[in-house]
Order: sequence, then structure tokens, then C-alpha cells
Amino acid sequence: MIQKCLFPAAGYGTRFLPATKAMPKEMMPVVNKPLIEYGVEEALQAGMVDMCIVTGRGKNAILDHFDMNYELEHQISGTSKEDLLAGIRAVIEKANFTYIRQREMKGLGHAILTGRALVGDNPFAVVLADDLCIHPEEGVLAQMVGLYRQFRCSIVAVEEVPADETHKYGVIAGKALTNSLVCVEDMIEKPEPGKAPSNLAIIGRYILTPDIFDILEQTPPGKNGEIQITDALLQQAKTGCVLAYKFKGKRFDCGTVDGFIAATNYCYERFCSCRPNGHG
Ligand code: G1P
Repeated sequence: MIQKCLFPAAGYGTRFLPATKAMPKEMMPVVNKPLIEYGVEEALQAGMVDMCIVTGRGKNAILDHFDMNYELEHQISGTSKEDLLAGIRAVIEKANFTYIRQREMKGLGHAILTGRALVGDNPFAVVLADDLCIHPEEGVLAQMVGLYRQFRCSIVAVEEVPADETHKYGVIAGKALTNSLVCVEDMIEKPEPGKAPSNLAIIGRYILTPDIFDILEQTPPGKNGEIQITDALLQQAKTGCVLAYKFKGKRFDCGTVDGFIAATNYCYERFCSCRPNGHG
């Protein structure tokens, strides 16, 4: 149904300097798995096989990660450490990876538009790897694909946030269709304090119909002088339909130190607490 998932991954990750000086922020590990691998797994679970990654300078570790490392394979072949590669091997086998370079940092909308050459004229998902989303049975993208099947329009995942945090997000407002679905009527990128139309913040999961590309081409720079996907989506909402979905599951903002640590503790306790204290 939706085959392609776009990962904007050209940003600098300045909030994590010096860790991100030479390492892409998408490669920061939560426990022992890079953030972007969690996103790719979520996309695979939702039935997507084409991972379209928008990269920039200094991001080659991402390309290497989603490729075979023959020396390493040879080295650990037949040892117990092979188990540690099982997950990434499965990912590499199931998914296709394509890459395009974003030469200038002109905002998330610009990054998505750069991905057009990889996505083509197809509906597609967008994952911002900074936002780590966890649901034990059905990942957020899989939940959204279910809705796309029904409604065939762009969908953004949203979460209620405290009023004093709305300025960090794209914020939506609209007409409630059900407890978890809102038909978007307004959308503001990082509203000034007191100017947010609601407390429903967009998180880094989107399903977009391909007409968004033509809209993005016409979208002037908005907040912070950048081309914003939020502005393009508002345009789409005005002329067609955009849904906001209050997803099921937990989301961690791994773009901040606090969120990253919370995600690490959560994943360690949930998925790793029975691991032996292995060395090496
Ligand atoms: C981007 C989007 C914003 C969204 C956020 C989710 O902002 O522009 O609308 O709420 O991702 O993480 P960024 O965090 O890249 O500044």
C-alpha cells in the first residue's frame, strides 16, 4: 500500500555536540541500536520496503550501517556475537536503501522536497528519527497506514503537550472526527507562547500524498526563514483534507538530552534487563 518511507537526516544535531561533531545524530544509539534503525524497523513493520534517506555532508556512517561489513562478519562468524547482528542483518535483507544529498539546510519542507526524486508520484511516510516511538504490538506508522487505507489523505501524528511546550512543535487545530482523529483546519509551526491554536503537537511521523511536492515548491520560507512542511500541510488541508491522529504508544524526543536519556532507560528496562552483563 505505502512502499516508501522518507528519512530526513541531513541536520547537524547541534544539541548533542560534541557527540555529533563527526557522527550523524541519527546514529546515536539508544542502548545498542542507532536511532535511525528503530525508525527503519517501524517502517518495515508497517509494510514499507523502500527507505529513502535524505543525507548531507558527514553522514556516511548511515550508509555503512545499512550495508554489509564483510570484515566484521568474517571476524565474528561462528561466535556468540553473531546474535548481535541478527537484527540489522534482517533489516538489510528486507529493505532497499536509497540516498540523496540535501546540499543546503533550508528546513524540513525543503528536505522532504529533496526526497522527491526518490519517492516519485507515490504516497509515502516520513520518519524523523529523533522521535522514537514505541508501541509493543503495532508501531505508529502501522497505525497510520491503517488510517490511510480508509481515508486516502495526508495524516500527521499528534500528541498532547503542556501549553509551555507548544512553541517547540507544529501545532494543529480542527474538528474532532473521533476520539483519536481530527480533521485539520489550522496548523502553525512553532507558535509564539500564547498563540498556539491547541495543545496538539505534531510529532515526527507523517503520511503524505504526493501532491505535497507541488505545494512545497510553492511554499515560501516560514518560521526561522525555513521551508516548513507544516505550512505546506496547511495549504493541503485548505484545499483537500489532512488528518491529525492521536497515536497509541510512547514517544521520546531523542533530539533533547532529557528525552534521549528517558528513551534509553525505558528501552533498557523493557528490552534488555534480562541481558547478561557481557563484555567486549
Ligand atoms: C519538526 C517540525 C515540527 C514538528 C517536529 C516534531 O521540527 O517542523 O512541526 O512538530 O519536527 O519532532 P524540529 O523538531 O525539526 O525543529
